[in-house]
Amino acid sequence: MSTVRDDMPTVLIAGGSGLIGGHLTRHFKDRGFRVYKLTRKPTKHGHIFWDPSQEKISTSKLAKIDVLINLAGENIGSKRWTTTRKAQILASRIESTEFLATVIGQMPNLKYYIGASGVNCYQNLSGKTFSEEDAYGSDFLATVVKEWEAAHQRVLSQVPGSVLRISMVLSRHGGSLQLMKQPIYWGLGAAVGPGTQSSPWVHIDDLCRLVLFAYDQRIEGTYNVLGANATNIEMTTRLAKWLKRPLFMPNIPAIVLRFLLGERAILVLADLKASNQKVKDTGFTFKYTSLDSAFKSFFKRG
Ligand SMILES: NC(=O)c1ccc[n+]([C@@H]2O[C@H](COP(=O)([O-])OP(=O)(O)OC[C@H]3O[C@@H](n4cnc5c(N)ncnc54)[C@H](OP(=O)(O)O)[C@@H]3O)[C@@H](O)[C@H]2O)c1
Repeated sequence: MSTVRDDMPTVLIAGGSGLIGGHLTRHFKDRGFRVYKLTRKPTKHGHIFWDPSQEKISTSKLAKIDVLINLAGENIGSKRWTTTRKAQILASRIESTEFLATVIGQMPNLKYYIGASGVNCYQNLSGKTFSEEDAYGSDFLATVVKEWEAAHQRVLSQVPGSVLRISMVLSRHGGSLQLMKQPIYWGLGAAVGPGTQSSPWVHIDDLCRLVLFAYDQRIEGTYNVLGANATNIEMTTRLAKWLKRPLFMPNIPAIVLRFLLGERAILVLADLKASNQKVKDTGFTFKYTSLDSAFKSFFKRG
């Protein structure tokens, strides 16, 4: 049971109604912070209305805000990447972040800003481990990240803060793990494409701990956020082991995935390794650095 303390800071999470926002809200509330969420569909106490596409926001609580976390953006994996959907994915991040930059002046108590970004921002180049000083790639996701981070800088020119290049978030409920679990659970699990392609991942608890750490330590700059990198085969076999399910299907060929998912197949076929050295150099320690430790936290009973 969390108890908000009057001496603790107030956090505002833009896009706080989603997967990461829900976990962050609990994480901060459990430590006594007051948390508000900016949402286009306010339904609960603690929700604050905004509609960045219309440049509308309810301003009554803004003067109380100490920490602003910006996660807002249309879900990247949920729908086919048509031209319209791509425009929505991009605009929902740029418009909302640029709009926040215009309302910062109404937050006189604001001490710290965290902007979400994605680690899928580098070139598609296997065999290299990317760190933050490497150049942006040129595909759709890299372009989204580049423009999103430029918008975050408009906020960061007014208040100290950081940009977190988040990798695939592993959480017990929802997100990528839920999607990977279903076919394995029904005995239809298989690696995809060559299976040797790597993806960076982070446990949701580590992400929440890092957000709090970033605020506490007032770290600045742009950081890759990952506990480790794992190949698709590792991810699939470790998950099957923890779900106690057999894996006997052959890999799903890349061509089939491209047919089923369209350009969005890059989310599972891209081969990316990233470094988390920069964030570790701030003094932050990841608790989950192996898939087994992460899956144990989700699936071990008793
Ligand atoms: N989950 C991951 O694995 C992962 C990995 C890397 C980066 N990220 C990034 O981290 C952020 C949060 O991730 P998540 O998994 O929590 O996402 P999510 O569950 O899809 O939630 C995103 C939130 O953004 C808000 N939103 C959506 N479209 C919007 C729009 N057009 N204008 C304003 N707000 C909009 C929604 O809030 P309302 O509908 O309530 O307004 C929604 O709750 C995202 O931007 C995502 O790209 C996530």
